Amino acid sequence: MTKGLKQKIIDQVSPDLKKVEIALEHNLKPNLKLVKKIASHLLFSGGKRLRPLLMIHSARICNYDNGFEIQFSVLFEYLHAATLLHDDVVDEAAVRRGKKAAHTKWSAPKVVLTGDFLLATALDIAAKTKEPDIISVIAKITRDMSEGEIDQLDKKGKLDLSEKEYFEIIKRKTAVLIQGACKSGAILAKADREKTDALEQYGFHLGMAFQMADDLLDYTAGAKELGKNPGADLREGKLTLPLIHSLGNASLKDKKWMENVITATSFSPALFEELKEKLYAYKGIEYTEQKALDHVKKAKECLSIFHDGQSRELLCQIADYSIERKV
Ligand code: IPE
Ligand code: IPE
Ligand code: MG
Ligand code: MG
Repeated sequence: MTKGLKQKIIDQVSPDLKKVEIALEHNLKPNLKLVKKIASHLLFSGGKRLRPLLMIHSARICNYDNGFEIQFSVLFEYLHAATLLHDDVVDEAAVRRGKKAAHTKWSAPKVVLTGDFLLATALDIAAKTKEPDIISVIAKITRDMSEGEIDQLDKKGKLDLSEKEYFEIIKRKTAVLIQGACKSGAILAKADREKTDALEQYGFHLGMAFQMADDLLDYTAGAKELGKNPGADLREGKLTLPLIHSLGNASLKDKKWMENVITATSFSPALFEELKEKLYAYKGIEYTEQKALDHVKKAKECLSIFHDGQSRELLCQIADYSIERKV
């Protein structure tokens, strides 16, 4: 049997990932045991470490390969972890990475403040790069993500959420972080404008595809493989592209039925299955897959200015994996 894409990627990155894990342990030094406990609950629970890998290979594709790219890359995992802690409070999510979400074990205020601690840890590492532009990237990410999450919260339950509004939300809440990790790799490598822009654009398209894949998985995956509860978006009143597109295509009767399911305070598994059938019938799933695929294609095109090599190959594979993934 041929090796799956995921395994191929893991085989190539596992030596670096070991160093990433060590650096993640090493840089997490709170005074309080409680902060260490809450942060570790999430940090060491099996994340894919996508964002550090993107920074590492964005630096390497620009010929920066002295090992510091690994040490600095963990800042993006701390930043990511901070946003996940906050996000699960905002979304009132019960499960993350197959474990109880931190705020259900500790209180929401403690978890939010631990998120702030992780953000500060990320900033500390960013300062060590001695690249002010990387600090600016982090400031932009933090501003955009806060606004993306607030915008999404504000538009919760909005039945006429447009595609444009959806794309704006996912750009801010997801794509800017992935984009920022790629751009920071280029900044670290002191890459020229053309290369920096190319990696930034690659990250943007990858991030958009990645979130659309996440929104598809919320309807198509099982709880066990996903490590969080499917159907959560619908329960949270969060309209994502599969639903937005299907609502736009549905007959008046089905549209009303779907709107009732969205606004209902709870729904049975059978009703969820019925809704899923409508998302397939009205091509919301197919349409979202196509949109995500378009972004993957664009992401890979951005890499064409770089020489063939291991990092280019890997960044291409990560783009393909972003929509093939099951978790
Ligand atoms: C989850 O990101 C949040 C989204 C942007 C959808 P990941 O899927 O990268 O989460 P982990 O770090 O691997 O758990
Ligand atoms: C993903 O938000 C982006 C952030 C974590 C800010 P979601 O709320 O869509 O992601 P999951 O489903 O909780 O991972
Ligand atoms: Mg969430
Ligand atoms: Mg959310």
